[in-house]
Amino acid sequence: MLKPEEDAFGQEIWAYYKGERTSEIVERDDGYFDVSSGPKMYFSEYDDWHSVDRKAMEFVKGRVLDIGCGAGRHSLYLQKKGFDVLGIDSSPLAIEVCKLRGLEKAKVVAIEDINFKPDSFDTIIMMGNNFGLFGSFKKAKMLLKKFHKMTSINGLIIASTRDTYKTSNPDHLEYHRINKQKGRMAGQSRIRIRFRKYVGRWLDYLIVSKEEMNEILKGTGWKIKEFIDSDNSEYAAVIEKV
Ligand SMILES: C[S@@+](CC[C@H](N)C(=O)[O-])C[C@H]1O[C@@H](n2cnc3c(N)ncnc32)[C@H](O)[C@@H]1O
Repeated sequence: MLKPEEDAFGQEIWAYYKGERTSEIVERDDGYFDVSSGPKMYFSEYDDWHSVDRKAMEFVKGRVLDIGCGAGRHSLYLQKKGFDVLGIDSSPLAIEVCKLRGLEKAKVVAIEDINFKPDSFDTIIMMGNNFGLFGSFKKAKMLLKKFHKMTSINGLIIASTRDTYKTSNPDHLEYHRINKQKGRMAGQSRIRIRFRKYVGRWLDYLIVSKEEMNEILKGTGWKIKEFIDSDNSEYAAVIEKV
């Protein structure tokens, strides 16, 4: 469980929920800092979502697990549409905000601790680049096998990410090069969130190309059903059982 002072994600979501217009600072382990679209995006309504997110929702069916649900924008949208949705997140404050916003089923569970009975869900969603929560090539394969058991025979995973290679930023290209030298995937970004005095835990966030995603899926019982593309580096994958 995250200590309160480590819940930087939750603190920024909590502050935004209370009406403070906040930003999310993402720090990478090479010293690169960025301000993301953060809390504003986590609270955005369907009409303001990226086209990839809107299209992805068309594939959702049955009982849904939203991993890394944040402030619950996808879960709340799906709940309103009549889906049975459980939102999980490692951030206790994010889950508190989901509940306050009306999400009926929301629980503090980290992706690493997921342990649901066989056939518990029909769709797992990992939106807002949350394919990244798979962390590494090895961890992704292990979790995908676990998700295979937790889902129904026609189960789906819908996950969004960015093509890590669609950049010309020299700092990112250098980071890719060093990662590969270390035997890591190019887009395996070790990052943490900073918000005011709160500093999140370091996490490996995996940003992959379509080819790399295909490689990760091999031998896990999952395959690509369809990619949802956009005019920038963002895309989502609809992943089905082999
Ligand atoms: C980029 S945000 C995406 C939020 C939401 N899916 C959206 O699109 O608005 C990532 C979320 O994943 C959560 N998270 C980070 N590490 C996690 C982990 N190990 N297990 C579960 N959730 C995690 C964060 O607390 C945060 O809410």
